[in-house]
Amino acid sequence: MSKNLDGKVAIVTGAASGFGRGIATAFANEGVKVIVADLQEAPSQGGFEAHAELSTVAEIQKAGGDAHFVKCDVTKQEDLKNLMEKTIGRYGQLDIMVNNAGIYRGGKLAHEFSEDDLEACWQVNVKGTWFGCQEAIKTFLQQGRGGNIINLVSTAGLQGHPKQSVYNISKGAQANLTRCLAIEYGHEGIRVNGICPTYAKTALTRELFDDKNFDEFFVESIPLKRWGEVSDVTNLAVFLASDESSYMHGVLVRLDGGETLCRYSV
Ligand SMILES: NC(=O)c1ccc[n+]([C@@H]2O[C@H](COP(=O)([O-])OP(=O)(O)OC[C@H]3O[C@@H](n4cnc5c(N)ncnc54)[C@H](O)[C@@H]3O)[C@@H](O)[C@H]2O)c1
Repeated sequence: MSKNLDGKVAIVTGAASGFGRGIATAFANEGVKVIVADLQEAPSQGGFEAHAELSTVAEIQKAGGDAHFVKCDVTKQEDLKNLMEKTIGRYGQLDIMVNNAGIYRGGKLAHEFSEDDLEACWQVNVKGTWFGCQEAIKTFLQQGRGGNIINLVSTAGLQGHPKQSVYNISKGAQANLTRCLAIEYGHEGIRVNGICPTYAKTALTRELFDDKNFDEFFVESIPLKRWGEVSDVTNLAVFLASDESSYMHGVLVRLDGGETLCRYSV
Protein backbone atom coordinates (compact mmCIF):
# COMPACT_ATOMS: atom_id res chain seq x y z
CA MET A 1 0.00 0.00 0.00
CA SER A 2 2.46 2.61 -1.16
CA LYS A 3 0.34 4.71 -3.50
CA ASN A 4 -2.03 6.41 -1.01
CA LEU A 5 -5.02 4.77 -2.68
CA ASP A 6 -6.15 3.04 0.51
CA GLY A 7 -9.86 3.68 1.18
CA LYS A 8 -10.60 5.18 -2.23
CA VAL A 9 -13.52 3.93 -4.32
CA ALA A 10 -13.22 2.99 -7.98
CA ILE A 11 -15.51 1.79 -10.73
CA VAL A 12 -13.91 -0.32 -13.45
CA THR A 13 -16.10 -1.12 -16.46
CA GLY A 14 -15.51 -4.34 -18.38
CA ALA A 15 -13.81 -5.69 -15.27
CA ALA A 16 -14.85 -9.33 -15.62
CA SER A 17 -11.92 -10.00 -17.95
CA GLY A 18 -8.60 -8.82 -19.34
CA PHE A 19 -7.31 -5.32 -18.54
CA GLY A 20 -10.37 -4.39 -16.49
CA ARG A 21 -10.02 -7.44 -14.29
CA GLY A 22 -6.30 -6.76 -13.86
CA ILE A 23 -6.92 -3.11 -12.97
CA ALA A 24 -9.71 -3.98 -10.49
CA THR A 25 -7.44 -6.54 -8.78
CA ALA A 26 -4.43 -4.21 -8.69
CA PHE A 27 -6.57 -1.40 -7.24
CA ALA A 28 -7.95 -3.75 -4.57
CA ASN A 29 -4.38 -4.75 -3.66
CA GLU A 30 -3.77 -1.04 -2.94
CA GLY A 31 -6.76 -0.90 -0.60
CA VAL A 32 -9.25 0.53 -3.12
CA LYS A 33 -12.89 -0.55 -2.83
CA VAL A 34 -13.82 -1.65 -6.32
CA ILE A 35 -17.09 -1.81 -8.19
CA VAL A 36 -16.71 -4.41 -10.93
CA ALA A 37 -19.08 -3.39 -13.74
CA ASP A 38 -19.66 -5.71 -16.68
CA LEU A 39 -22.30 -7.48 -18.75
CA GLN A 40 -21.54 -10.69 -16.88
CA GLU A 41 -19.50 -11.82 -13.86
CA ALA A 42 -17.57 -14.62 -15.57
CA PRO A 43 -14.47 -13.75 -17.62
CA SER A 44 -14.71 -13.85 -21.43
CA GLN A 45 -13.88 -17.12 -23.20
CA GLY A 46 -10.37 -17.38 -24.56
CA GLY A 47 -8.68 -15.03 -22.10
CA PHE A 48 -5.41 -15.51 -20.25
CA GLU A 49 -6.77 -15.14 -16.70
CA ALA A 50 -4.78 -17.11 -14.11
CA HIS A 51 -7.96 -18.09 -12.21
CA ALA A 52 -10.67 -18.03 -14.86
CA GLU A 53 -12.88 -20.19 -12.64
CA LEU A 54 -13.22 -17.25 -10.23
CA SER A 55 -15.13 -14.05 -10.91
CA THR A 56 -13.12 -10.85 -10.42
CA VAL A 57 -15.00 -10.14 -7.19
CA ALA A 58 -14.30 -13.66 -5.89
CA GLU A 59 -10.60 -13.32 -6.76
CA ILE A 60 -10.36 -9.95 -4.99
CA GLN A 61 -12.25 -11.20 -1.93
CA LYS A 62 -10.06 -14.31 -1.75
CA ALA A 63 -7.05 -12.00 -1.44
CA GLY A 64 -8.78 -10.02 1.35
CA GLY A 65 -9.93 -7.09 -0.79
CA ASP A 66 -13.28 -5.32 -1.01
CA ALA A 67 -15.21 -5.54 -4.30
CA HIS A 68 -18.78 -5.73 -5.53
CA PHE A 69 -20.29 -6.66 -8.90
CA VAL A 70 -22.86 -4.46 -10.65
CA LYS A 71 -24.33 -5.64 -13.94
CA CYS A 72 -23.93 -2.85 -16.45
CA ASP A 73 -24.15 -2.45 -20.21
CA VAL A 74 -22.09 0.67 -20.91
CA THR A 75 -24.05 1.37 -24.09
CA LYS A 76 -27.07 2.23 -21.93
CA GLN A 77 -26.99 5.52 -20.05
CA GLU A 78 -29.60 4.22 -17.60
CA ASP A 79 -27.18 1.44 -16.61
CA LEU A 80 -24.45 4.00 -15.93
CA LYS A 81 -26.83 6.06 -13.79
CA ASN A 82 -27.74 2.90 -11.87
CA LEU A 83 -24.02 2.08 -11.53
CA MET A 84 -23.36 5.45 -9.88
CA GLU A 85 -26.34 5.01 -7.53
CA LYS A 86 -25.22 1.53 -6.51
CA THR A 87 -21.64 2.72 -5.97
CA ILE A 88 -22.66 5.64 -3.76
CA GLY A 89 -25.22 3.44 -1.98
CA ARG A 90 -22.61 0.82 -1.13
CA TYR A 91 -19.41 2.82 -0.58
CA GLY A 92 -20.68 6.43 -0.14
CA GLN A 93 -18.32 8.01 -2.67
CA LEU A 94 -16.56 7.70 -6.01
CA ASP A 95 -12.91 8.65 -6.53
CA ILE A 96 -11.76 6.84 -9.67
CA MET A 97 -13.62 5.94 -12.87
CA VAL A 98 -11.97 3.56 -15.31
CA ASN A 99 -13.76 3.36 -18.67
CA ASN A 100 -12.28 0.11 -19.89
CA ALA A 101 -15.15 -1.88 -21.46
CA GLY A 102 -14.48 -2.25 -25.14
CA ILE A 103 -14.84 -4.50 -28.15
CA TYR A 104 -12.71 -5.13 -31.23
CA ARG A 105 -13.88 -5.60 -34.80
CA GLY A 106 -10.97 -6.00 -37.19
CA GLY A 107 -9.65 -7.97 -40.12
CA LYS A 108 -11.44 -6.27 -43.02
CA LEU A 109 -10.89 -3.44 -45.45
CA ALA A 110 -13.16 -0.44 -44.89
CA HIS A 111 -15.54 -1.30 -47.75
CA GLU A 112 -16.02 -4.80 -46.31
CA PHE A 113 -17.18 -3.77 -42.83
CA SER A 114 -20.91 -3.98 -42.15
CA GLU A 115 -23.00 -1.28 -40.56
CA ASP A 116 -23.33 -3.66 -37.62
CA ASP A 117 -19.52 -3.68 -37.14
CA LEU A 118 -19.49 0.12 -37.20
CA GLU A 119 -22.47 0.40 -34.87
CA ALA A 120 -21.07 -2.14 -32.36
CA CYS A 121 -17.70 -0.39 -32.00
CA TRP A 122 -19.34 3.01 -31.84
CA GLN A 123 -21.87 1.92 -29.21
CA VAL A 124 -19.48 0.22 -26.80
CA ASN A 125 -16.20 2.07 -27.31
CA VAL A 126 -17.47 5.61 -27.91
CA LYS A 127 -20.89 5.90 -26.31
CA GLY A 128 -19.87 3.56 -23.47
CA THR A 129 -16.89 5.77 -22.63
CA TRP A 130 -18.95 8.92 -23.11
CA PHE A 131 -21.70 7.79 -20.69
CA GLY A 132 -19.12 6.55 -18.18
CA CYS A 133 -17.29 9.89 -18.24
CA GLN A 134 -20.50 11.91 -18.15
CA GLU A 135 -22.03 10.12 -15.17
CA ALA A 136 -18.73 10.04 -13.25
CA ILE A 137 -18.22 13.78 -13.83
CA LYS A 138 -21.74 14.51 -12.52
CA THR A 139 -20.91 12.51 -9.39
CA PHE A 140 -17.50 14.19 -8.97
CA LEU A 141 -19.04 17.67 -9.35
CA GLN A 142 -21.70 16.81 -6.77
CA GLN A 143 -19.04 15.60 -4.32
CA GLY A 144 -17.05 18.81 -4.96
CA ARG A 145 -13.57 17.38 -4.40
CA GLY A 146 -12.32 16.43 -7.83
CA GLY A 147 -11.88 12.95 -9.23
CA ASN A 148 -9.87 10.78 -11.53
CA ILE A 149 -10.90 9.34 -14.92
CA ILE A 150 -8.83 6.80 -16.83
CA ASN A 151 -9.94 5.77 -20.32
CA LEU A 152 -8.67 2.59 -21.96
CA VAL A 153 -7.85 3.84 -25.43
CA SER A 154 -5.24 2.13 -27.69
CA THR A 155 -2.40 2.92 -30.05
CA ALA A 156 -5.29 2.54 -32.53
CA GLY A 157 -6.56 5.87 -31.19
CA LEU A 158 -3.27 7.60 -32.04
CA GLN A 159 -2.63 6.38 -35.58
CA GLY A 160 -4.18 4.43 -38.46
CA HIS A 161 -3.87 0.65 -38.67
CA PRO A 162 -4.74 -1.48 -41.69
CA LYS A 163 -7.95 -3.52 -41.67
CA GLN A 164 -9.39 -2.17 -38.45
CA SER A 165 -10.95 1.14 -39.43
CA VAL A 166 -14.13 0.72 -37.37
CA TYR A 167 -12.10 0.02 -34.22
CA ASN A 168 -9.59 2.77 -35.00
CA ILE A 169 -12.18 5.50 -35.48
CA SER A 170 -13.86 4.53 -32.21
CA LYS A 171 -10.51 4.66 -30.38
CA GLY A 172 -9.68 7.99 -32.06
CA ALA A 173 -12.95 9.36 -30.69
CA GLN A 174 -12.08 8.11 -27.20
CA ALA A 175 -8.67 9.79 -27.45
CA ASN A 176 -10.17 13.15 -28.38
CA LEU A 177 -12.87 12.82 -25.72
CA THR A 178 -10.07 12.35 -23.16
CA ARG A 179 -8.41 15.58 -24.34
CA CYS A 180 -11.69 17.55 -24.38
CA LEU A 181 -12.67 16.50 -20.86
CA ALA A 182 -9.20 17.28 -19.51
CA ILE A 183 -9.61 20.84 -20.82
CA GLU A 184 -13.16 21.25 -19.49
CA TYR A 185 -12.79 19.78 -15.99
CA GLY A 186 -9.17 20.28 -14.91
CA HIS A 187 -10.12 23.39 -12.93
CA GLU A 188 -12.56 21.22 -10.95
CA GLY A 189 -9.70 18.96 -9.88
CA ILE A 190 -10.92 16.19 -12.17
CA ARG A 191 -7.96 14.57 -13.89
CA VAL A 192 -8.59 12.71 -17.16
CA ASN A 193 -5.98 10.52 -18.85
CA GLY A 194 -5.88 7.69 -21.37
CA ILE A 195 -3.87 4.48 -21.62
CA CYS A 196 -2.89 3.46 -25.16
CA PRO A 197 -1.63 -0.11 -25.29
CA THR A 198 -0.67 -2.01 -28.38
CA TYR A 199 -1.75 -5.67 -28.61
CA ALA A 200 -1.66 -7.39 -25.24
CA LYS A 201 -2.70 -10.90 -24.29
CA THR A 202 -6.43 -10.89 -23.49
CA ALA A 203 -9.55 -12.57 -24.87
CA LEU A 204 -9.90 -9.61 -27.24
CA THR A 205 -6.69 -10.53 -29.07
CA ARG A 206 -6.80 -14.33 -28.68
CA GLU A 207 -7.40 -14.91 -32.40
CA LEU A 208 -4.40 -12.76 -33.35
CA PHE A 209 -2.24 -14.38 -30.66
CA ASP A 210 -3.07 -17.86 -31.97
CA ASP A 211 -2.20 -16.86 -35.55
CA LYS A 212 1.48 -17.83 -35.71
CA ASN A 213 2.14 -15.64 -38.77
CA PHE A 214 0.70 -12.60 -37.03
CA ASP A 215 2.49 -13.43 -33.78
CA GLU A 216 5.87 -13.58 -35.55
CA PHE A 217 5.27 -10.42 -37.59
CA PHE A 218 3.99 -8.53 -34.55
CA VAL A 219 6.80 -9.44 -32.13
CA GLU A 220 9.34 -8.62 -34.85
CA SER A 221 7.84 -5.12 -35.23
CA ILE A 222 8.15 -4.31 -31.52
CA PRO A 223 11.53 -2.94 -30.35
CA LEU A 224 11.03 -4.70 -26.98
CA LYS A 225 10.19 -7.95 -28.84
CA ARG A 226 7.15 -9.08 -26.89
CA TRP A 227 3.38 -8.81 -26.60
CA GLY A 228 1.95 -6.49 -23.98
CA GLU A 229 0.87 -8.06 -20.70
CA VAL A 230 -2.15 -7.15 -18.59
CA SER A 231 0.29 -6.22 -15.80
CA ASP A 232 1.84 -3.51 -18.04
CA VAL A 233 -1.56 -1.82 -18.13
CA THR A 234 -2.45 -2.37 -14.47
CA ASN A 235 0.84 -0.89 -13.23
CA LEU A 236 0.18 2.25 -15.27
CA ALA A 237 -3.46 2.46 -14.15
CA VAL A 238 -2.41 2.35 -10.47
CA PHE A 239 0.12 5.14 -11.13
CA LEU A 240 -2.43 7.29 -13.00
CA ALA A 241 -5.00 6.77 -10.24
CA SER A 242 -2.53 7.82 -7.55
CA ASP A 243 -1.25 11.23 -6.48
CA GLU A 244 2.18 10.23 -7.81
CA SER A 245 0.88 11.30 -11.24
CA SER A 246 -0.89 14.41 -9.95
CA TYR A 247 0.41 16.72 -12.72
CA MET A 248 -0.42 14.32 -15.55
CA HIS A 249 -3.59 15.49 -17.22
CA GLY A 250 -5.04 14.96 -20.69
CA VAL A 251 -2.19 12.59 -21.46
CA LEU A 252 -2.57 9.59 -23.77
CA VAL A 253 0.20 7.29 -22.59
CA ARG A 254 1.64 4.98 -25.24
CA LEU A 255 2.20 1.51 -23.80
CA ASP A 256 3.59 -0.31 -26.81
CA GLY A 257 7.17 -1.54 -26.35
CA GLY A 258 8.25 1.23 -28.72
CA GLU A 259 6.00 0.07 -31.59
CA THR A 260 4.76 3.49 -32.65
CA LEU A 261 8.31 4.93 -32.86
CA CYS A 262 9.14 3.09 -36.04
CA ARG A 263 7.83 1.37 -39.18
CA TYR A 264 9.71 -1.80 -38.33
CA SER A 265 12.25 -2.80 -35.75
CA VAL A 266 15.79 -4.21 -36.02
N1 LIG B 1 -6.08 -6.38 -25.52
C1 LIG B 1 -5.49 -5.48 -26.29
O1 LIG B 1 -4.54 -5.78 -27.02
C2 LIG B 1 -5.92 -4.04 -26.24
C3 LIG B 1 -5.06 -3.08 -26.80
C4 LIG B 1 -5.44 -1.75 -26.76
C5 LIG B 1 -6.61 -1.37 -26.15
N2 LIG B 1 -7.44 -2.32 -25.61
C6 LIG B 1 -8.67 -1.85 -24.98
O2 LIG B 1 -8.68 -2.27 -23.62
C7 LIG B 1 -10.02 -2.45 -23.18
C8 LIG B 1 -10.20 -3.80 -22.54
O3 LIG B 1 -9.90 -4.80 -23.50
P1 LIG B 1 -9.47 -6.29 -23.13
O4 LIG B 1 -8.39 -6.63 -24.06
O5 LIG B 1 -9.26 -6.41 -21.68
O6 LIG B 1 -10.78 -7.08 -23.60
P2 LIG B 1 -11.56 -8.33 -22.97
O7 LIG B 1 -12.40 -8.83 -24.08
O8 LIG B 1 -10.61 -9.26 -22.30
O9 LIG B 1 -12.46 -7.67 -21.85
C9 LIG B 1 -13.45 -6.74 -22.18
C10 LIG B 1 -14.52 -6.77 -21.12
O10 LIG B 1 -15.48 -5.77 -21.46
C11 LIG B 1 -16.77 -6.31 -21.25
N3 LIG B 1 -17.74 -5.62 -22.09
C12 LIG B 1 -17.90 -5.69 -23.44
N4 LIG B 1 -18.94 -4.96 -23.84
C13 LIG B 1 -19.48 -4.40 -22.71
C14 LIG B 1 -20.59 -3.57 -22.47
N5 LIG B 1 -21.40 -3.16 -23.46
N6 LIG B 1 -20.84 -3.18 -21.19
C15 LIG B 1 -20.05 -3.61 -20.18
N7 LIG B 1 -19.00 -4.42 -20.34
C16 LIG B 1 -18.72 -4.82 -21.61
C17 LIG B 1 -16.64 -7.79 -21.61
O11 LIG B 1 -17.68 -8.56 -21.04
C18 LIG B 1 -15.26 -8.11 -21.05
O12 LIG B 1 -15.32 -8.56 -19.72
C19 LIG B 1 -10.91 -2.23 -24.42
O13 LIG B 1 -11.39 -0.90 -24.42
C20 LIG B 1 -9.94 -2.44 -25.58
O14 LIG B 1 -10.34 -1.76 -26.73
C21 LIG B 1 -7.12 -3.65 -25.65
